[in-house]
Amino acid sequence: MEESVLTNEELPEDIESHSLRPKLLGEFIGQTEVKEMMNVFIKAAKNRNESLDHVLLYGPPGLGKTTLAGIIANEIGVNIKITSGPSIERSGDLAAILTSLEPGDILFIDEIHRLPRIVEEILYPAMEDFVIDIVVGRDSTSKSIRVDLPPFTLVGATTRFGDLSAPLRDRFGVVHKLLYYNEEELKEICERTAKIFESDIKESAAFEIARRSRGTPRITNRLFRRVRDFADVLNDGIIDQKICHVALDKLHIDHIGLDSKDHSYLEGIIDKFDGGPVGIESLAASIGEEPTTIEDVYEPYLLQLGFIKRTPRGRIATQKAYRHLKKRHNTRLFE
Ligand SMILES: Nc1ncnc2c1ncn2[C@@H]1O[C@H](COP(=O)(O)OP(=O)(O)OP(=O)(O)O)[C@@H](O)[C@H]1O
Ligand SMILES: [Mg+2]
Repeated sequence: MEESVLTNEELPEDIESHSLRPKLLGEFIGQTEVKEMMNVFIKAAKNRNESLDHVLLYGPPGLGKTTLAGIIANEIGVNIKITSGPSIERSGDLAAILTSLEPGDILFIDEIHRLPRIVEEILYPAMEDFVIDIVVGRDSTSKSIRVDLPPFTLVGATTRFGDLSAPLRDRFGVVHKLLYYNEEELKEICERTAKIFESDIKESAAFEIARRSRGTPRITNRLFRRVRDFADVLNDGIIDQKICHVALDKLHIDHIGLDSKDHSYLEGIIDKFDGGPVGIESLAASIGEEPTTIEDVYEPYLLQLGFIKRTPRGRIATQKAYRHLKKRHNTRLFE
């Protein structure tokens, strides 16, 4: 249980709780800039009775990309079809999806950086001119026929903006980066969740959960559920700061939201590699993790906290990290 609490991946328990997903822009907390822009684009598209420009949302997992895609569809009043890069294996799969859309519909492609290249190429004319070219027949008798598509809006989501090919990136009219949420916003998200669950939560408790949520609403909701379990059993269902401490300490989540895996990552750099620089491969091997897990899951938040730096020669732990782990920092000459 402890292992999975802080993962940013979507877990089955998160999926069951989709009633927590805000349905309208007005219910979506934080990300003010993105909300303001989307509000304008949605209204403009509605007024003109046109499909919205293609939207690319990127940023770390659990910050609300899928939620926003749903909100866009809801606000415009169209259907949303949800799929993901790795699940579209052949160009025919994508053609089938595209030809089944109704005018104005939203097609949401999660993990769009993982679309196979041949599938991606089908997407270019589809996004630009709402047409696809389908090849029929084989070899010498094969010919390509052009099929018109209804105007649609592609909403793409990715945690790895840098892995997107330039031609694909360039075909999105609207590109937004989702940022980590601040404590105030996460506190509000926690209180909103508590209200939906009809739970009694003190403001100081909501702040405590917010502080340990690593800037991520998905984690806020998950921590809330764990704390609520403790409150139900030990505290007559009342969620106060004390029960938060009891629950979160039991889950080995420290006061800024780092868990044992973050600790072993940082201790890896500090104790095994003398604070770095250390290459991602060696570091990953030394703590028994996949390099991609480290890059996608641990590092974004540690970078945000300023605990590590990525340099051309590898990762370095900063003074802040040493201080947090209560370790002595030998100032190096060349940092
Ligand atoms: N701004 C917000 N206000 C309230 N709740 C939010 C907000 N953003 C996200 N959430 C909550 O956090 C959960 C995770 O959000 P979501 O699934 O949209 O993230 P994601 O960015 O798509 O993650 P992934 O990259 O893993 O697909 C949602 O179920 C929702 O309840
Ligand atoms: Mg998602």
